[in-house]
Amino acid sequence: MSRSPTLPLIFLPSSLCMAPLFSLFFSFLMCSRNAGGAPSPGYYPSSKVSTISFDQEFRNLWGAQHQKLDHGSLSIWLDSTTGSGFKSYHSYKSGYFGTAVKLQPGYTAGVNTNLYLSNIEDHKGTHDEIDIEFLGTTQDKPYVLQTNVYIRGSGDGKNIGREMRFHLWFDPTQDFHNYAILWKPSEIIFLVDDVPIRRYPRKSDATFPSRPMYVYGSIWDASAWATENGKYKANYTYQPFIGRYQNFKLQGCTTDSTSSCRPPSVSPPGYGGKLSRQQNVAMQWVQKNYLVYDYCHDPKRDHTLTPEC
Ligand SMILES: *[C@@H]1O[C@H](CO)[C@@H](O)[C@H](O)[C@H]1NC(C)=O
Repeated sequence: MSRSPTLPLIFLPSSLCMAPLFSLFFSFLMCSRNAGGAPSPGYYPSSKVSTISFDQEFRNLWGAQHQKLDHGSLSIWLDSTTGSGFKSYHSYKSGYFGTAVKLQPGYTAGVNTNLYLSNIEDHKGTHDEIDIEFLGTTQDKPYVLQTNVYIRGSGDGKNIGREMRFHLWFDPTQDFHNYAILWKPSEIIFLVDDVPIRRYPRKSDATFPSRPMYVYGSIWDASAWATENGKYKANYTYQPFIGRYQNFKLQGCTTDSTSSCRPPSVSPPGYGGKLSRQQNVAMQWVQKNYLVYDYCHDPKRDHTLTPEC
């Protein structure tokens, strides 16, 4: 099934748009409002953090033959032989980590395209991780953006993820959009086109990652779980699956930085580093309309393992 090109390429939560008759008018209003995109967050941190070239901070980690840099634009791709991944030279204690990504259209089930922070190579078995992962899809369904946080090995065999998954208010295969992770000692904020979509506060040392992490990106075959819990797998009839990255934005405190180093703020001046009202309104709009999974509200999970819920 292909979408009509005359309609705006947006993905609306079906619950909203399949409203009973009496609320059809309201859902029409909502749906047309959504067509204009998310409410303005009023502040655009991606425009404050300077763009760096890929080579300045990253190197290939694996699948070098499936990585190409062309005028500052990076392509990594997955086919039946291998995927590809890159890694930062430095490890960070905090920071803003962003990039613009354009995803492969069409059938991409099983394909995982991502940007994440991790210290898995330093702390095998007890590692921390903060993820933005795009989970591929079958032709007629939208991509899922998965955000996740692992703490001290909660992802190492224990599988205690802290996933929140979203649809997007635009088609991420049509254009580059900015995706970013802000990791501060007090909170993590995930942003899409400068709209905060999730805030993960530090509620206790046990539920927050605090050891230095490197920045990674990759494209790989996650058929076992990525698309509808593994129901749909990667189909290499459609290879190669290409992830396109540009406008790498990175400003952080490395392990060598002085103790006065602070990560940039994603909130406007005068808010003491807290999200503004307008940013909170935009985040609530995203969570109300596009959140498709929240680990804290999954009835199948043991919530004693995630006390922050
Ligand atoms: C992969 O896609 C092709 C083309 O649509 C189809 O014929 C084939 O059955 C698919 N393979 C699997 C394993 O689903």
